[in-house]
Amino acid sequence: MSGRIPQSFINELLARVDIVDIIERRINLKKTGKNYSACCPFHNEKTPSFSVSPDKQFYYCFGCGVSGNALTFIMEYEGQEFVAAIEDLAQTMGLEIPREAYDGPKQTFQDHLYPLMEKVSDYYQQQLKNNPNAKNAINYLKNRGLSGEIAKKYAIGYAPDDWQNLLKLSSSSKDLQQDLVDTGMMIKNDKGHTYDRFRDRIMFPIRNRRGQVIGYGGRIIDQGEPKYLNSPETNLFHKGRELYGLYEMRKELRSIQQIIIVEGYMDVVALAQFGIYNATATLGTATSSEHLQTLFRICSRVVFCFDGDKAGKAAAIRALQNALPLLKDAREIRIMFLPDGEDPDTMVRKIGAEEFNQNVDEAITLFDFLLQYLTSQVDMNTFEGPARLVHLAKPFSLAITDSILKTRFDQRLASLAGLSEKQLNDAIQKDQTAQKPVRTPVSASNTENALFEVKPIKIQGKAPFRRAIALLLQNPDALPAAKLDWVKQLDEAGARIFSRLCSLIDQNEGISTGMLIEHWRDQAEETHLKKLANSDLIISREQMPSELADLLSRLEKEIIIDEWDRLIAKSKLQPLNQEEKTSLKSLQKEMLNRG
Ligand code: GTP
Ligand code: MN
Repeated sequence: MSGRIPQSFINELLARVDIVDIIERRINLKKTGKNYSACCPFHNEKTPSFSVSPDKQFYYCFGCGVSGNALTFIMEYEGQEFVAAIEDLAQTMGLEIPREAYDGPKQTFQDHLYPLMEKVSDYYQQQLKNNPNAKNAINYLKNRGLSGEIAKKYAIGYAPDDWQNLLKLSSSSKDLQQDLVDTGMMIKNDKGHTYDRFRDRIMFPIRNRRGQVIGYGGRIIDQGEPKYLNSPETNLFHKGRELYGLYEMRKELRSIQQIIIVEGYMDVVALAQFGIYNATATLGTATSSEHLQTLFRICSRVVFCFDGDKAGKAAAIRALQNALPLLKDAREIRIMFLPDGEDPDTMVRKIGAEEFNQNVDEAITLFDFLLQYLTSQVDMNTFEGPARLVHLAKPFSLAITDSILKTRFDQRLASLAGLSEKQLNDAIQKDQTAQKPVRTPVSASNTENALFEVKPIKIQGKAPFRRAIALLLQNPDALPAAKLDWVKQLDEAGARIFSRLCSLIDQNEGISTGMLIEHWRDQAEETHLKKLANSDLIISREQMPSELADLLSRLEKEIIIDEWDRLIAKSKLQPLNQEEKTSLKSLQKEMLNRG
């Protein structure tokens, strides 16, 4: 078993390769000014919006929003996992990959679990065909209108009603039992007994983008609780990332214009039965930003399908919160509501494929729905109505990142509320400095009002480090010589990221944007940082160092003043302790120095 690849090697690899070279080996690039461009290899387009920057060692598509460094490109373009992409890149550069000493089972690569899951899948499919006890399962599927052909395409299977089926799968594998527990297919209880998780259930395998089985949804036959049993999170299976039916969709369709997001496994399969293959389902979780990013890499239009009842509307509003920040350029989200009590499965059976597709095409756009929803929440004929509307709309307005969409949304809002745009802007900006909209997905049990909660941030001022981070990311040479110890003391996410960027640049001469981003791979901030790495800062690269220096000195001054204000205010209520007094003195001195 080999150990981890050291981060230092990944840094070195990225420092040596030229992203232009790596991408040019795979697609045709054309030089356009400082950068190179091409038709994006990750979505269908006729005019080039894919751009590669040799300065930043970073690529970006203005059409579909994909971005990354050389390693990311190989992963995405070749459909490779992280390690395989490093191996590929190292081979191109003629470098040997060093491995850290192997340090225990925690770090093992789990590649051997994929073939095991394949075996499990073969076994379940074969049981559906041959096990005499699978008759009920077969009848159930037939009654729901599924053909053998569709069952085969989706690799549907049957888990027999026994506790130790899977242990029979292999006699050679030493750690079969442990591996089955690791994949979530077996459960180990407190007493150390292991048994099959899925028994007497219809099995829907969940496959990753390479078609490997990584988890299962198991449906009870007919009635009973729980109706669906799902695989737990494992090293192979992450619910926030995976989508049911996506692999099958891409396999079936050569070009995908739009993708429908439905709620259930059976919805995906039933739609496929009617020839509608462009549907996918999340795995019993809300649609995450990561899900949406994945879908927008495939096509630019996503249609959510919800129940038309109150719960469906609430689900739509929750989905909006994750979706708004991702909307830009040609991306489009629509929402389709079904009549009460229907789901896509029952609906398509009732009205057929043609009418179903027509409903999808006519789905309401996300912004139209949002405005409709917001106005339905207030009585516009009362004195307070318009004010309440602005209040409700505020978190949504703030969540829109695309400037054109935001302007349009604000214009509509202003006209609905009978305000000028300036008045509306003032109202929205007013307490934005102290408050931030909640962007994290709201759990289903919360009420809709939870969406409008606000939480305070620790330091005041308008998203202070956002621009500083963007400047430094886009031009690492802009790192100022001045000491930035004060940044480290701030208890704020942006300040922490900024500090980390500073020390990375400090320690790695010539580090590029692409290399910097690599340090956040698969971390929560990655998407955000990629966005900043590509945001249009209006100014040229050459102007960045001086702007960053100015920005930092202004920030430092603001923070000094804030802290000074805080201590003065406190001193009026109670005597300051010695430490605070000293601090106040040095702050005063600083303020004098700076005028
Ligand atoms: P049927 O048509 O009744 O077979 O199911 P469905 O595909 O229409 O699913 P439904 O709309 O009832 O539920 C949507 C999704 O929620 C399912 O695909 C599951 O992922 C999940 N789900 C439903 N019931 C359960 C349950 O009892 N437990 C868990 N963990 N998840 C469930
Ligand atoms: Mn259903």
